[in-house]
Amino acid sequence: MIRLGTVFSGIGAIEHALDRLDLPHDIVFACDNGERKLKSKIEKVESAIEGMNDSEKNDYITQLYEKECGMNYVEQTYRANYIIKNDLFYQDVRFLDQEYKIQAVELCLEGDKSIAQVAKELGLAYNTLHRWVKEYKESNGTSFVGSGNIKPQNQEIIELRRRNQELEEELAILKKALGIFTRNQK
Ligand SMILES: C[S@@+](CC[C@H](N)C(=O)[O-])C[C@H]1O[C@@H](n2cnc3c(N)ncnc32)[C@H](O)[C@@H]1O
Repeated sequence: MIRLGTVFSGIGAIEHALDRLDLPHDIVFACDNGERKLKSKIEKVESAIEGMNDSEKNDYITQLYEKECGMNYVEQTYRANYIIKNDLFYQDVRFLDQEYKIQAVELCLEGDKSIAQVAKELGLAYNTLHRWVKEYKESNGTSFVGSGNIKPQNQEIIELRRRNQELEEELAILKKALGIFTRNQK
């Protein structure tokens, strides 16, 4: 069974193709902002949703869009075409969970594409992706914690990185202490 999650879902071209090809599939999620533009600054929204779980975050973003920009007609059309549970439709790719952000950052750091190229391909503003890369580098890969749904295996990596950093700091302190101790012995 194909499990399908789309961003920039539109009215669902991929879903339609799978239907026509008679390929059984499950719609896991869809995401489209209906070409609406939020008035709030992305940084302000990000700090407002910090620490919320996925469903709280989705409710908050949906309400904010409704308040600032009215109805999402693309979502309405998608829902007319496909059956999708209420909480599985997201409004804006920029507020999807941290895994999406990590994948976007890794495309910039590990591939041969520039931030500008990756941003264009993912439909993100250059400044947004640039900021994610900066946050990721500055936090030693532990960025975006608290901004949503962290998969258990990612949580484990984050914990291991954190523990590794602690051990490195402890080792540095021990080395320093050993240096002082041996100097005093002479
Ligand atoms: C070219 S259309 C995609 C069409 C789609 N593949 C289909 O099958 O209908 C691009 C879509 O991206 C959506 N979009 C633009 N910025 C977005 C964002 N930040 N988050 C989610 N969707 C966004 C637009 O509303 C538009 O429906």
